[in-house]
Order: sequence, then C-alpha cells, then structure tokens
Amino acid sequence: MPRLLQIDPAAPDEIALGLAAAQLAAGRLVAFPTETVYGLGAHALDAAAVARIFAAKSRPATNPLIVHVADEFAARQLAEEWPPAAHLLAARFWPGPLSIVVRRRALVPDIVTAGGPTVALRVPAHPVALALLRKSGLPIAAPSANRSLEVSPTTAQHVAQSLGEAVDLVLDAGPTTAGIESTVIDLSERPWRVLRPGPITPAQVAECLGETVVVGSIGSTQRSTARSPGMQARHYAPRALVACLSAADAPATIEQAHRAGRSVGVIHRRCEAMVLPADGKFPAVSLPDDAAGFASGLYAALRELDEQGVDVIFVVEPPDGEEWLAVRDRLARASAPPL
Ligand code: TXA
Ligand code: MG
Repeated sequence: MPRLLQIDPAAPDEIALGLAAAQLAAGRLVAFPTETVYGLGAHALDAAAVARIFAAKSRPATNPLIVHVADEFAARQLAEEWPPAAHLLAARFWPGPLSIVVRRRALVPDIVTAGGPTVALRVPAHPVALALLRKSGLPIAAPSANRSLEVSPTTAQHVAQSLGEAVDLVLDAGPTTAGIESTVIDLSERPWRVLRPGPITPAQVAECLGETVVVGSIGSTQRSTARSPGMQARHYAPRALVACLSAADAPATIEQAHRAGRSVGVIHRRCEAMVLPADGKFPAVSLPDDAAGFASGLYAALRELDEQGVDVIFVVEPPDGEEWLAVRDRLARASAPPL
C-alpha cells in the first residue's frame, strides 16, 4: 500500500504539504484531492516524472494531461496565447472544475500534451490542492488517480486500491465533493467546444462568454475525437456490466435478471426507491435527487457495487435537462461495450 497522509481540508498541515511538495520536486508521484476527483500529480515540467504517471496508470501516450496551477497568472506562463475568453472564464470559474485548453508554450513537455500544440489548464478549488500548488510553486500535471479505464477515485482509499505502490504518497482529505471530472473547454480554435461535460454546464460557459459553445459529443465526429484523444467511448467503467433503465422498466427488468440467475445491484435516485423489489434482496445505492448530489456519489456507488461482486449494475436513468448532461455522459461511458 502507498503511504496515506491524512490532511485536514479546513486547515491543511504545513508539514504534510511540505513533504508532498518535496516529493513532487524530486520527481515522485503524489495523489491529492481536488473538488472533482483525486488527481495523480507530478511536476508538470519534469518529463521523467510525468512519464511515471503514464506508467502508473497504463495510460496511452496519446492521451494528454491536465496541468493544475495556482492561479490565472501561473496558467498564462504555460500558454502561448491567453484569449479574452480564457480570462473571462478564469475570472468567473477559477478556482473551480473547469479545464481550459489553449495553445501551449514550448516549456510544457511534449509528454504532457501527447505531442499536441495545446495544453489543458485548471486551478482546482480544493483547499488542499491549492495549498499544495502554492507550497510547491510548481505546475502539477494530474490525471484522475486511477488506472486507465477505471472509475475515477473520489476517496484516498479508492486511489490506494487502484494504484497501490505505483503512487509514492496520497494526501487523504476525505471524499471529494463534485464527484465527477471537470468540464473541459477548448479555446484553442473556433468553434469553442466543450470536449467533456462536467460540473460547469455549457450554458454557464456560454452565458459567461456571451456566445454559444459547441458541445462535442465525444466520438461523434472525428474532429472531436482528435481534439480530446482521451475520450474513448468506454471509460469510467467498473468491472460489472452497467445498464441504464427507465424507472418504468426497472422493476420488471431487475426481477427478470435476478430470476435468470444474475446477481444484480441497483443505483437510483432517492425519489425512485419504488423501483426496488420490496423483499430487498438486491444491493442498492440510493443517491440524492439533484444532479450535483447524484454526481457526488455516483463513482463511489459504482465501486461499492463492484466490490460486492454483482454481475450487473442497473442505473435508473436520470432526468433530461442540461444539469444532468455530465452524469448522463459518464453513465453512457460506463455502460458502453468494452473496446
Ligand atoms: O477533474 C478533473 O479534470 C480531474 C482532476 C484530477 O483535476 N482530472 C482528470 O484528468 O479528469 P484526466 O486525465 O482523467 O482527464 C483529462 C481529460 C482527458 O479526456 C484528456 O483527453 C483531456 O482532458 N485533455 C487533456 N489535455 C487536453 C488537450 N490539450 N486537448 C484536449 N483534451 C485534453
Ligand atoms: Mg481519468
């Protein structure tokens, strides 16, 4: 098991931060909490350290990393150009769950950007992430701290289970709040495009910019695939099969799967508890009715049911509406057939 250091998000301990910062400066990997999911961090300008991230995750070299920075000023040091739109978004949403893709400067190593001309930048809102960025004075490249194609970690325990000894240190500040990965917006060329839906909705981005943005339905066009190479259809997937069901179909389908001898788990919104058979023979996770609350608990729920060894996880489909876009995106990926 890796070394886990507890750290209080309300008052991050300077000694723990100093230790983590020293590890990063020495080229080692430190997992840390952000407001979205835990990240697997390395000194972003140290190509050898970043290579260790790819090895630890078995991540394809074609999938670029997000670089975390302490503030907009630090972001600009890594960007070839910083368009007015980037400033508007940074002023409004940073620190926060928005990654902004812009043209990169040459000092950003090729390995970080998968050789591409752009870099994704984000100032995270978690007090521990921010304190670590400030203490280390480094830009930190950090993908989600899980092995490639697994569900992203929302606790330090998830990180340890997923990466084991491959990570040198894990800062444990308890569960993350947003629970799904940041929104990724590409400002490197027009049309501006949301490459990955997340906690900040396309409407919020458009409202801030005073312009519409395209939502890249990932994989739907070659262009969007090329622009966000990491967005394979199958992603965020547990071991069990995941299937989405309408609340109307759920009771019959769940019964049927059970009678066919499959072990079944169910994830549903609290208000839809009636989809569960009354005898309670299925492990079920009940999540909050609102999109943010549901997103916050989704990955832990998938992991929990996976650990119980179920064959199938039925998820009762969330409602339509833009606030559910990111959740629907993650569920679609979790339920896509393996590549
Ligand atoms: O919330 C988050 O974004 C978390 C926390 C740790 O910050 N990080 C995260 O990283 O989810 P990762 O590596 O799991 O996902 C990064 C996504 C990938 O889909 C990747 O392809 C895309 O961002 N990306 C990174 N750099 C890019 C670039 N230059 N152009 C287009 N897409 C990029
Ligand atoms: Mg990831």
